Amino acid sequence: MTQNSINNIPMVDVQAWHRPIQERLEKKALEILRSGRFIMGEEVEAFEQEVAHYLGAKYAISCANGTDALVLTLHAAGIGPGDEVLTTGFTFFATAEAIMQVGATPVLVDIDSETFNIDPLELERSITSRCKAVLVVHLFGLPAALSEIQAVCDRHGLILLEDCAQSFGASYHSRKTGNFGLLGTFSFFPSKNLGGFGDGGLIITSDLKAAETVRMLRNHGSACQYYHECAGYNSRLDALQAGLLRVKLKHIDEFNAQRRKVAQWYRELLKGTEVIFPEDRENHIYHQYTVVLPSGRDMVKKRLASKGIASAIYYPLPLNKQRALVGVASEYELPVCEQLSEHCLSLPIFPGMTNSQVETVASTLIKEMC
Ligand SMILES: Cc1ncc(COP(=O)(O)O)c(C=O)c1O
Repeated sequence: MTQNSINNIPMVDVQAWHRPIQERLEKKALEILRSGRFIMGEEVEAFEQEVAHYLGAKYAISCANGTDALVLTLHAAGIGPGDEVLTTGFTFFATAEAIMQVGATPVLVDIDSETFNIDPLELERSITSRCKAVLVVHLFGLPAALSEIQAVCDRHGLILLEDCAQSFGASYHSRKTGNFGLLGTFSFFPSKNLGGFGDGGLIITSDLKAAETVRMLRNHGSACQYYHECAGYNSRLDALQAGLLRVKLKHIDEFNAQRRKVAQWYRELLKGTEVIFPEDRENHIYHQYTVVLPSGRDMVKKRLASKGIASAIYYPLPLNKQRALVGVASEYELPVCEQLSEHCLSLPIFPGMTNSQVETVASTLIKEMC
């Protein structure tokens, strides 16, 4: 038996995650296959109502993926060519990509070294005369400093938008993320906290005009079939995704609680070691469990892999270092982003992960750091 077959711990084990609800998922999938209704329709409408209720928003509009959700949101907020949008330098590329897709320019802001989220002081310092909005990201499932960020937006007349791709179900002062900005966006990429079975996305808002604009844009700029008000997109959620997400939505609090439990186990095991791990914060829902290693990160990652333990680097390059942003947003100096991108390592975390799996990951990590 090789070392690899002893441990087989992926970043996310979807089988273990779905095991308790597998039968319900299969029943729902079969029901939809037999219904013959695959685009929009009842399942999508029911999902939109249920997810709006869960998140505490007036309107929820589903779409094809989290990137489209951002593009539709930026359009609905009136962002376009000539505008600048402040955002974090440490996020998945889609956040900046969406800003560029609507013809605007990202203004990259450095992050707080403990939370990996945008630093509100840096945010205020980075505002230019062309800035129209702030697109905040709640990275790894931890809500950003929304009170401070909202205050910056209010002082400078900026629109607040939220990229909640990684924070489905996380709250800030008892309100779910996505409700603080004019609009909030979500992704249902399979590994996300509310992960689907393919691509999917969502926009929430409590502003009727913004909701109507998004609803029209996601469906070819049409509010009434075959009548088109503007050029929009084909960005709809499939009935199959909506139906399966309805099944998972009923369990999202339990899934997030299990992630928090895993994080607590990691915390207990990593205490007193050189590993810098996320502080216990009650509103963190741990889309990722990301630690910082003082040295040897890439070597440790390889050694974990050789023992059959997955790990991932989110993200190896801050946005200012991405080739796609050369000449657009490459002039920013983001020392915290750059430092963390060289030392961060995300460890396996998923609902259904066992205590013994966490022990194996933590003990191997500690051993391989020496
Ligand atoms: C912060 C962030 N924004 C946007 C997206 C884009 O979502 P999707 O992959 O559904 O297009 C992701 C997905 O990884 C993300 O992590």
